[in-house]
Amino acid sequence: MGRDVIVACDFSSAEETFRFLDKFTDVKPFVKIGMELYYAEGPEIVRQIKARGHKIFLDLKLHDIPNTVKKAMAVLSRLDVDITNLHAAGTTAMMKAALEGLTRPDGSRPLLIAVTQLTSTDQQAMEQDLLIHEPMDEVVMHYAQTAKNAGLDGIVCSPLEAGKVHDRCGNHFLTVTPGVRFADGDAGDQKRVMTPAAAKAIGSDYIVVGRPITAAADPVAAYRRCVLEFCD
Ligand code: C5P
Repeated sequence: MGRDVIVACDFSSAEETFRFLDKFTDVKPFVKIGMELYYAEGPEIVRQIKARGHKIFLDLKLHDIPNTVKKAMAVLSRLDVDITNLHAAGTTAMMKAALEGLTRPDGSRPLLIAVTQLTSTDQQAMEQDLLIHEPMDEVVMHYAQTAKNAGLDGIVCSPLEAGKVHDRCGNHFLTVTPGVRFADGDAGDQKRVMTPAAAKAIGSDYIVVGRPITAAADPVAAYRRCVLEFCD
């Protein structure tokens, strides 16, 4: 898969999601389904969006003991999503078990990427709550390297980190980056943002874009603008 724009469908019902997706008549954007929509509608929402011809990033961020994650991933592998994820903090054993569970009998599997440190976790919280005292940058790079060593395909990270992750883990190790805003747009609650063009320049493989598209007056035009800036 090449560089692409993934639209975060952060909706709480199938109805709202399809009202949004129905606006796209001649393009089928790559869609991210997160916990809110998945827990509201269950696996059927994944099947329905897939049946409409969209690629899917199922963003459920699994984190549990290796055996449980392996079994959960085996169930998810039947949904035929394109990308799914877990927390690198689950350790190498969990990531390897996840890959095993995700791999279908014919050897195929969705891409598997890792969340490193959540962007909502800052240095202070990491030190006080998690007792991790290394600088955040190094922690993120270490988690990326651990994910790569476990055999994963990439990580979720800030577009600001994508270049460094590629330097450390290679250009084929995927960087999937939220925190994208148009130059003339509102950052909202995202603190460290980048435009689609800047994310392209720094080497992000996929940008995850939510509100700049879902809350736009013309979502299809906003999506096309992202694609134009990031993919062309
Ligand atoms: O609306 P917005 O463009 O901020 O949406 C970004 C999407 O990426 C949301 O679904 C958000 O949960 C997700 N995300 C993020 N930062 C992370 C990981 C995921 O914004 N570190």
